[in-house]
Amino acid sequence: MSAPRPAAVIVLAAGEGTRMKSRRPKVLHTLGGRSLVGHAIAAVRGAAPLHLVVVVRHERALVAEHIADIDPAAVIADQDDVKGTGRAVECGLGVLPADLDGTVLVTYGDVPLLQTGTLLDLLDVHTSSASAVTVITARLDDPTGYGRILRDADGTVAGIVEQKDATEEQRAITEINSGLYAFDAAVLRAALSEVGTDNAQGEKYLTDVLAITRGRGLRVSGHLIDDLWQTEGVNDKVQLSRLGVELNRRTVDRAMRDGAIVIDPASTWIDAEVTIGQDTTIHPHTQLHGVTTIGADCTIGPDTTLTDVEIGDGASVVRTQALLAVIGAGASVGPFSYLRPGTQLGARGRIGGFVETKNARIGLGAKVPHLTYAGDVTIGKGANIGAGTIFANYDGVTKHASSVGAHSFVGSNSVLVAPVDIADGAYVGAGSAVTQDVGPGEIGITRARQRNVAGWVARRRAGTRTAAAAEAALARGDTRTQGEATQEQAHPPATQEPATQEPATQEPAPQRQGTPDVEPAARHTDQAEEGARS
Ligand code: UD1
Ligand code: CA
Repeated sequence: MSAPRPAAVIVLAAGEGTRMKSRRPKVLHTLGGRSLVGHAIAAVRGAAPLHLVVVVRHERALVAEHIADIDPAAVIADQDDVKGTGRAVECGLGVLPADLDGTVLVTYGDVPLLQTGTLLDLLDVHTSSASAVTVITARLDDPTGYGRILRDADGTVAGIVEQKDATEEQRAITEINSGLYAFDAAVLRAALSEVGTDNAQGEKYLTDVLAITRGRGLRVSGHLIDDLWQTEGVNDKVQLSRLGVELNRRTVDRAMRDGAIVIDPASTWIDAEVTIGQDTTIHPHTQLHGVTTIGADCTIGPDTTLTDVEIGDGASVVRTQALLAVIGAGASVGPFSYLRPGTQLGARGRIGGFVETKNARIGLGAKVPHLTYAGDVTIGKGANIGAGTIFANYDGVTKHASSVGAHSFVGSNSVLVAPVDIADGAYVGAGSAVTQDVGPGEIGITRARQRNVAGWVARRRAGTRTAAAAEAALARGDTRTQGEATQEQAHPPATQEPATQEPATQEPAPQRQGTPDVEPAARHTDQAEEGARS
């Protein structure tokens, strides 16, 4: 059967969490990419309550701000100086309509593995048994510290006694109070007004509501569950880690049941909100964080960390770190690349090895295959960015944008000093420092021309293996002797000469100076292609 939706959920999160030994409020610690209170809220939202209240006190400002962030519709209630779970719930009721009727669920902000389904089961049991209170219970081998469930001879729940108030006999009871309940709203409100603080801790206990309700002849039920993880709270960082591992195990199992292939679940970390398409393989040591969405038939990892990344079908992302990036269908990334926010790689595009990108829109089938920094750039479809290209986007004061048009080609080891635009169908010669736009069909090239100095090795490296190899090659008639290139050099030789200990007097004098800077385009095209082919 299906119970009516709860009138309200009250999530308790006012406790101090001293044992966390942390400056951060306990319920803001995270596992599986969500805060503890975020998990609590996600679970109760699934039950579709009409009202959702979170009771806060410790680090009120930080906690309230976080809750407003993740669930703006949640109402914050402040707990006052009176201590105890009963007082917390009373403060929660205080922000709800006075005539609220129906069922009120109470949960804790520090119990992250609780699932919506368990709350729906609780509602079913509560409604079908016509109970005024129903509490989720569990059996523990070691119940130390928990409230114990007191049952009558006929098995009906009579009340809860806290560890500190319990007799030896009661402490032997292994059925514990999880702290998760369904209450009739009016009964809860009335009973709480009767709860005092006359107990070992001087607190107003929510647990006292059960005996009071029972005393009025109303029905109190227990709903025993087997999955202890769902009732376990985080009190210290050991529990945080233990529960984090278990949550991950559950998330990875779910991903596999939904069709993903996970090679090594133990080294794979998947946040609660990640989705993975069918037959996508996740290789070892991969972390998928935030709202990462991965399509079908992809290869992800090994050694890959993706945060808030969207990946299309059939893509491959290997040994990569990426944040707030979009990777198109059939695209490939890595190994060893770093995609920063604003990276958008088009379908069938490629970002290869040792590439860093940021605010980079890379078009359909475009390639940035090797050793590149691409920041604040738009790269057109089918463009090819040669090895070692740097898009220099920062002048020391401001960032500027650049673009490379469709099917254009940037030769290796070029630096494009932003702002600069390379048109569609243009080339940049390898080794250029580009500071001016390059038009369609043009090549931009800025490097100094090469000169070959014939006989240099024989003169300056006489007696070395290099000299012997040169001599042998010349004797064989190697035709690649281009000493004449010396005569076409564009610049004085001193600055281009390899460093040498020998006196400069042996230096051949430049034969000619003042050659034009630009060679015939056809030759440059060949050189650019040689330098940047992938
Ligand atoms: C409580 C229950 C105990 C149960 C256990 C399960 C009572 C009296 N005891 O014990 O029966 O077995 O939980 O974990 O209810 N909180 C507030 N305001 C307060 C006190 C607590 O909001 O004044 C919140 C805490 O932030 C926490 C939850 O209530 O989320 C439980 O508080 P905690 O102090 O851990 O309760 P326990 O003493 O463990
Ligand atoms: Ca606790």
